Amino acid sequence: MTDLRWGILSTARINDALLGADAARFVAVASRTQGRADAYAREKGIARAHGSYEALLADPEIDAVYVSLPNHLHMPWTVRALQAGKHVLCEKPLSRRAAEVEEAFDLAEASGLVLAEAFMWRHHPQVAQAQELLASGAIGRLALIRARFSGPVAEPGDPRLSRAMDGGALMDVGCYCVSGARTLAGGEPEQVEAMRIAGGEDVDVVLTGLLRFEGDVLASIDCGFALAAEDGLEAVGDEGVLRLTDPWHAREPVIELERAGTPTQRIAVPHANHYALQLRDFAAAVAGGRAPLVGRADAVGQARAIEALYAAAEGAETRSVDP
Ligand SMILES: NC(=O)c1ccc[n+]([C@@H]2O[C@H](COP(=O)([O-])OP(=O)(O)OC[C@H]3O[C@@H](n4cnc5c(N)ncnc54)[C@H](OP(=O)(O)O)[C@@H]3O)[C@@H](O)[C@H]2O)c1
Repeated sequence: MTDLRWGILSTARINDALLGADAARFVAVASRTQGRADAYAREKGIARAHGSYEALLADPEIDAVYVSLPNHLHMPWTVRALQAGKHVLCEKPLSRRAAEVEEAFDLAEASGLVLAEAFMWRHHPQVAQAQELLASGAIGRLALIRARFSGPVAEPGDPRLSRAMDGGALMDVGCYCVSGARTLAGGEPEQVEAMRIAGGEDVDVVLTGLLRFEGDVLASIDCGFALAAEDGLEAVGDEGVLRLTDPWHAREPVIELERAGTPTQRIAVPHANHYALQLRDFAAAVAGGRAPLVGRADAVGQARAIEALYAAAEGAETRSVDP
């Protein structure tokens, strides 16, 4: 537990993962109505309840704000929280517009505040372990990355199906695939292609994308709401394959390593709560005046890739195969 005093913007379901991590002092919550804030604070054992997001930002006894709002509200409330002098941990994806992400980091840096994108999966030790294996040549020269994340979302009114609320499968689950490809490639894509199937209120309910990284590394990403639940992340080299069997949730993570002529090796990964590690990394960044693990370069690279994939997917709908 660290000294940082946290406030939560909204009563979102995801809050439970951070509250349950038992790694930070959540002292206040805000909701759009006082009644909901009061009930939530009572249920979760949070000391103060604010009946508006503005009221929480005006609370002088809060150092850091966790933004767990729907996607289209991430940037507006991140900016307002920074303007109120709070450090901000904002849920993924920060934004599909890279320029907005850059502006938010400009503001954070000018104000001496920490801003981080809440990609909890990056904090799990299996990620560093996989990066070390790749760097040690475990699969030879990295050539291809495959990332996938999907699960049914069909309930009318769900913010994830709303274009106005920056929904879509790439925003919700595909952003993990983009993050996975960028993390294993160790850089930013130079070129992307994508196609989507539209549904809901004009969002991508299935999206598949291709990314090309420096050094002739290609990545494919698959994500969707109109698909059965599936997840995975693998790196293919010229000598072997490295597979994270449970990359995003990391409930039962194992790293599998396949090399020609040898039985598949199952490499044990330590159990860890990546939400707790994310909160501790954030607190250490505030205390130590250092960047968080998922800081500016990462968040901007992520938003640029998402923006380019959406541009490609929407452009692809106007292209057809010549007879
Ligand atoms: N890192 C992870 O593991 C993970 C997992 C799931 C989701 N997420 C991310 O976390 C964010 C929240 O997802 P969630 O599924 O937990 O959200 P949710 O349960 O749908 O809750 C969102 C909250 O936002 C507030 N809100 C404000 N304006 C709203 C509006 N116009 N419509 C709906 N809600 C509104 C509501 O709180 P009040 O009524 O209290 O104001 C609502 O409870 C998303 O960005 C998602 O991508 C991350």
